[in-house]
Amino acid sequence: MTDTATPPAADAPPPDPNAVAVTVNGVPHVARKGQLVIEAAADAGVYIPRFCYHDRMTPVGKCRMCLVECDSGRGPAVTVSCMVPVAPDMKIETESPTAKRMQEGVLELMLANHPLDCPVCDKGGECPLQDQTMSHGPGESRFVEEKRHNEKPIPISDLVLLDRERCILCDRCTRFADEVAGDPLIHFIHRGNSTEVNTFPDDPFSSYFSGNTVQICPVGALTAKPYRFKARPWDLEQVESTCTTCSVGCRIVVQSTRDALVRYQGVDSDPVNWGWLCDKGRFGFEATNSADRARVPLVRQGDQLVETTWSGALRQAASIVKGAIDRDGAGAVAVLGGARSTNEGAYAWATLARTLGVTHTDAQLDDGLPADVLLGLPRATIDEACAATTIVVLGVDLKEELPVLFLRVRDAASKRRARLLEIGPRDTALTPLAYRSARYRPGEQAALVRQLISEEGPQLAKGNVVVIVGRGNLAEASRPTLDALALLQAGVAGVRFLPVARRGNTVGALAAGLRPQAGGLDAKGVLEAAAAGRISCLVLLGSDPLGDVRDASLARKAMANVGAVIAVDTQLHASNRQAAVFLPATAPGEHAGTTTNVEGRVTAVAQKVTAGTARPDWMIATELGDRLGHDLGFARVEDVTHELSVTVDAFAPASLEALAAERDGVVIALGGGHPLSVSGVEPPAGNSYEYRLVVSRKLYDGGRLVMSSPSLAPLAPGAHLHLHPLDADRLGAHDGSTVKVTSPRATVTLEVRPDPAIPRGTAWVAANQTNVHVAELIDADTWALDVKVESL
Ligand code: SF4
Ligand code: SF4
Ligand code: FES
Repeated sequence: MTDTATPPAADAPPPDPNAVAVTVNGVPHVARKGQLVIEAAADAGVYIPRFCYHDRMTPVGKCRMCLVECDSGRGPAVTVSCMVPVAPDMKIETESPTAKRMQEGVLELMLANHPLDCPVCDKGGECPLQDQTMSHGPGESRFVEEKRHNEKPIPISDLVLLDRERCILCDRCTRFADEVAGDPLIHFIHRGNSTEVNTFPDDPFSSYFSGNTVQICPVGALTAKPYRFKARPWDLEQVESTCTTCSVGCRIVVQSTRDALVRYQGVDSDPVNWGWLCDKGRFGFEATNSADRARVPLVRQGDQLVETTWSGALRQAASIVKGAIDRDGAGAVAVLGGARSTNEGAYAWATLARTLGVTHTDAQLDDGLPADVLLGLPRATIDEACAATTIVVLGVDLKEELPVLFLRVRDAASKRRARLLEIGPRDTALTPLAYRSARYRPGEQAALVRQLISEEGPQLAKGNVVVIVGRGNLAEASRPTLDALALLQAGVAGVRFLPVARRGNTVGALAAGLRPQAGGLDAKGVLEAAAAGRISCLVLLGSDPLGDVRDASLARKAMANVGAVIAVDTQLHASNRQAAVFLPATAPGEHAGTTTNVEGRVTAVAQKVTAGTARPDWMIATELGDRLGHDLGFARVEDVTHELSVTVDAFAPASLEALAAERDGVVIALGGGHPLSVSGVEPPAGNSYEYRLVVSRKLYDGGRLVMSSPSLAPLAPGAHLHLHPLDADRLGAHDGSTVKVTSPRATVTLEVRPDPAIPRGTAWVAANQTNVHVAELIDADTWALDVKVESL
């Protein structure tokens, strides 16, 4: 044949070496080399039924639902289409009589023990087993025997219930937990006919990612407590949006019934979350619905905050701002927060501040990297970081701070052969995957990084190095991390960074203008000025200095000596209870706009439910501007999105048109900052009787979102002092014994947890928990904090 074929034209493109010609149900199709039959058929527009196959996990061929006939030249053979790759000239038949008989047989067997309780099953109406029984099932069953019975349902964690009768043993949940999340806590137990999915006794399925197993379970065997019996699929309305709980910015579907949020589901965004969500993001919608939402404007009358109208509250707020500026100048006004809002909220407030001459604006609370560093470092996207030859994770515990970014890095290190170099103050969930994990004493990271640049020269010289960096220790200044970054920038050719921030829209809020302006103070400076009585009006945009600032004493002094507070928030808390005016803001699900994730990706945030009397941040800023005599010119949220893209250079790619066209959003133009320089400051020496303190975030904490979500609030672990077991022994302490922890600022009492993940000489405590306010120990001015620990 080849000698009679027409030779390719001289200018024709060379044949694609990855192309594989096949036919699917008789129709020619070009598949990709190595592609599975089930995927090739899907590309050709033919759906092969499946249960266990999931395109983000390794195929296992467990359920046999995807049987088809394939002929690779030796005659048709029944083939497990999720396990077999395409071959040249393969004839794939998905609807032949044999394929149909196989599919019917598999379904008949699967239903032999399935309870068929669809009318009361949460999955009913969106169940692949139900759907595929209708589309590919036999119509009737030959099985008349009694079905298997199990206790219905059993809780396997605080969030997930298991109904074993419904399970079809597809291995999706078990594979996800082991392969994707690295929490192999759910397994098959027993053998043969008795095989079932379950957890180990006394070892619940306490994974940060458990909700994903509920979403991918193809039947109603796994259900989530927060959604169970709340709605049926035909009652639901939905819209695609972005999770703003942390700065990964996972794509979600927001579902509601009767104007109340009831469920978030992960959407597969290839550059971001691959369909996964963490449980905090998935179930945090409860905070939007929570009973403690403050939805009515409030003004202070004596000791009380009393309800008022919007116009009354805005008039009062305007008079406070105007009074402060007229009396003390714009330098006596400051705006803190805004990183939990949308880009539009941040931009409108930044515009109002600029119009009024207010320069003290900061979306962070002295707990992140400085704005110019966060925005200015040469940047990598999440995909670029995960495709790097060497991923350096510096200082931050990704699983606790940015859980789905942790999943992406975990995947890169475990499956894609990226080499992971972890540099941190303690072991984390990434430690077992790192080719090298190096520990530093807090404050001494620069010395370690200098040593690693020399020792790891050959690995780092392979090129394509991305450093994922965050502020991992609230008991330490930012400067030690900046020094380490400066060394990496100078010592590793072509290095790029993915600097992380925890609050959902930190990057967007800073880039949109809520950062210190020329001559303006950052959050720490604002708090110091407030403590000294120099701030007459403080606007809190969804921020709670008393609960959230790492130096509790500074926050207390600031809030005690500040003039009037104007609070824009969704709930009341310690800081905004002292407000002169409280303006109720919308929560996620109640407002539209855009958000910017950690890599600078701007995506749409959608409104799904009505907000009642609460208003979006951008609207509050606009209306306050009106009352101060400044027309910001925003009538609709799109006006703000548009103006942001034309007036702020970084946001130029995020035009309304580009956002409408790109489902995964657009990455804005960040980077271009000056190279960092090393401070040259020597870290404090410390002494061998004291412990160097690390205070870092846990996913579940005493923050507003967790505490206002009934399903999440019990998961906050509380603050305990974690010490290396030998250090605990040295103190005569054991698990649960009480110790006194003393810093130059304060003494707190904590229970001890011996923990081999903590290096000797270091002490670790979770930040922002409700049992002990560990921020009392911290002095925002210290480079690194040494504490005395005494057994009681
Ligand atoms: Fe599959 Fe669901 Fe059973 Fe897990 S519980 S094996 S996901 S059917
Ligand atoms: Fe939301 Fe962050 Fe969790 Fe993603 S990782 S679901 S953005 S909280
Ligand atoms: Fe192929 Fe389950 S989908 S065996």
